[in-house]
Amino acid sequence: MYFDYSWALAFGTLIISFHATGITAYTWPSPKLDALEAARFDQLGVNAVSAGLTSFVQPCDSFLFGDNTGRANAADWIRTAYHDMATHNSADGTGGLDGSIRFDEEQARAENAGDGFHNTMLIAAFLSNRYVSVADSIALAALIAIENCGGPEIPFRGGRIDATEPNTPGVPEPQQDLDSHIASFARQGFTPTEMIGLVACGHSFGGVQHDAFPDIVGNLNDPNNTEDVAHFDSTFSQFDNKIATEFIEGTTQNPLVVGFNDTTNSDKRIFASDGNSTMRAFADSPSLFAATCADLFARMLDTVPSNVQLTDVLTPLPVKPSGVQLTLDGDFIQLAGQVRLWNTTEDSSRIVRMLWHDHHGGMGNATLSFTGTSSSTGGKYTAAWYAFNASNSDSSISLDATAGIKSLSFLVNDQLEDQDGVGFAIQDGFMFSKTSCRIQSPFTGRFDVAVRKDVNPTRVYLEEISTDGTQKVTVTEIDISPPTSPVFGDSAYSLWSINLTDPTTVYSIGAEIGGVKYSTTDEHLFIEFPLCSGV
Ligand code: HEM
Ligand SMILES: *[C@@H]1O[C@H](CO)[C@@H](O)[C@H](O)[C@H]1NC(C)=O
Ligand SMILES: *[C@@H]1O[C@H](CO)[C@@H](O)[C@H](O)[C@H]1NC(C)=O
Ligand SMILES: *[C@@H]1O[C@H](CO)[C@@H](O)[C@H](O)[C@H]1NC(C)=O
Ligand SMILES: *[C@@H]1O[C@H](CO)[C@@H](O)[C@H](O)[C@H]1NC(C)=O
Ligand SMILES: *[C@@H]1O[C@H](CO)[C@@H](O)[C@H](O)[C@H]1NC(C)=O
Ligand SMILES: *[C@@H]1O[C@H](CO)[C@@H](O)[C@H](O)[C@H]1NC(C)=O
Ligand SMILES: *[C@@H]1O[C@H](CO)[C@@H](O)[C@H](O)[C@H]1NC(C)=O
Repeated sequence: MYFDYSWALAFGTLIISFHATGITAYTWPSPKLDALEAARFDQLGVNAVSAGLTSFVQPCDSFLFGDNTGRANAADWIRTAYHDMATHNSADGTGGLDGSIRFDEEQARAENAGDGFHNTMLIAAFLSNRYVSVADSIALAALIAIENCGGPEIPFRGGRIDATEPNTPGVPEPQQDLDSHIASFARQGFTPTEMIGLVACGHSFGGVQHDAFPDIVGNLNDPNNTEDVAHFDSTFSQFDNKIATEFIEGTTQNPLVVGFNDTTNSDKRIFASDGNSTMRAFADSPSLFAATCADLFARMLDTVPSNVQLTDVLTPLPVKPSGVQLTLDGDFIQLAGQVRLWNTTEDSSRIVRMLWHDHHGGMGNATLSFTGTSSSTGGKYTAAWYAFNASNSDSSISLDATAGIKSLSFLVNDQLEDQDGVGFAIQDGFMFSKTSCRIQSPFTGRFDVAVRKDVNPTRVYLEEISTDGTQKVTVTEIDISPPTSPVFGDSAYSLWSINLTDPTTVYSIGAEIGGVKYSTTDEHLFIEFPLCSGV
């Protein structure tokens, strides 16, 4: 009897890969995933943590270092991601997208000619934070550039770890022959067909500059292209399949195809390496090209050293609290923050209410006020934001400190949003206390941390957020001693204090409770504290 194994095999593969992709949404709060999700999806507008980056690649032909240069930030970011990744060795698991391109030593190599890496790394310093590495920022920047400039949506995973030193060289160069390029892409983890695809996808953007490659591109004498960039296709700042149509039609001006010196015509050799069949398919079908590029770009961004475990693909949380901040103010807890409703536009008739649940089984509620919208993926998605504590809301939320707060849920036009019954858990075991103050002489800030009476933290500490000499964000923990004579009385909280003298350092608060470490998302500078009374 005949049995078609290939069908069963394909079906098995489908199931396996479906599980491996693991696109299940996570449960809020999860500080690292919350931060990565925000960096991925909050691109422009209110509370958009990636606005700094997105505004660099929009409009798509903008270039930070001058107008009419022929260059585009978007192209620089995509090339940066590829060159950071291209050091990967799939045999021994070393190299990959790990931010090693930020080291001057790596940028100085001939394989990394040009100033594009220096340019992007100046910006990367502002994009990364304690939860989003420089490498994650590079991956996100390339992804946002592609998605916002006509490209397909790309599944994003986070969790890249920054290298502490330069990687072994390994980026392909135009004068190398086809066999070297096939071997190079094999080392990086790509087949010869995938090599054609990845080069065509990347070279949908940008071009070759005279300064970096004077033997390939001469002076163009074009006032609209002052950096003499010979573009790979006629739409250098937009993703499309013109890189393929122009190649197949024979109208291409790609300097790596029609350059006068055939030795450096690497795109010509690569594109023709399978008798043009891949490029012809791309030229015939913009959608095939986009789908292939989405897959290859995702694989490029996810090529990391083998000891790095990436997160699942991030999907936007439909309802997401953000910037939730608790502050002890005497017998009250002040609650502030925002909530984001994904894939929702402004609607003045929408009523958003927040419910909070306390430790005594009680519940309070407040109507939240609309604060604006954010957008993502070139305006494809919009999210509406509501604040707990906006000045124009009736919800200056003050909670009884004894009852405290355990969790939040929301009612959007009376529909309950509580993460399928789990609720949005709030940690009120420790928080910043409004009694924190500063003295002028000697210049000192006293941080008071309120610790809930029925919580017994193993440790309470400040987290000093700073950047090391290699652009990596570091968190240093500074332990706070328990008070020698805790003043409990009727109060639900005791105060743990520490004096600090550096007014420029930003601190958040951490505590270890039941073997688990928690951090606040609010950060403080002591120069903003009121003067201590009696000094
Ligand atoms: C054999 C493989 C490759 C070779 C030999 C090659 C070569 C080059 C060269 C010589 C340039 C000009 C750089 C400059 O003047 O600043 C360039 C630019 C660029 N490459 Fe590649 N490339 C290859 C593969 C890739 C891949 C796989 C990607 C991404 C998926 C990519 C993305 C880019 C981008 C976006 C630019 C434009 C940069 C800009 O305009 O600022 N390249 N490439
Ligand atoms: C430069 O760009 C402007 C505006 O797009 C155009 O009118 C002009 O003809 C261009 N100049 C050259 C030399 O291509
Ligand atoms: C062509 O490029 C190769 C590699 O850069 C170089 O060695 C050779 O001299 C060039 N030939 C000409 C005619 O410029
Ligand atoms: C591939 O396309 C290029 C550019 O149009 C052309 O010069 C070349 O002859 C083609 N090769 C084959 C095998 O069709
Ligand atoms: C966004 O919302 C619209 C209208 O409510 C809906 O049709 C669409 O499927 C949603 N898209 C996503 C990606 O959730
Ligand atoms: C909100 O609180 C008010 C009292 O403050 C109460 O009357 C009302 O029933 C509450 N609404 C909900 C939905 O819990
Ligand atoms: C929240 O509202 C209270 C009372 O109006 C105010 O004192 C506090 O500063 C606000 N908090 C934030 C983070 O806006
Ligand atoms: C902080 O400094 C003040 C004033 O010098 C001092 O009275 C207090 O004991 C110090 N507190 C701690 C926790 O060191």
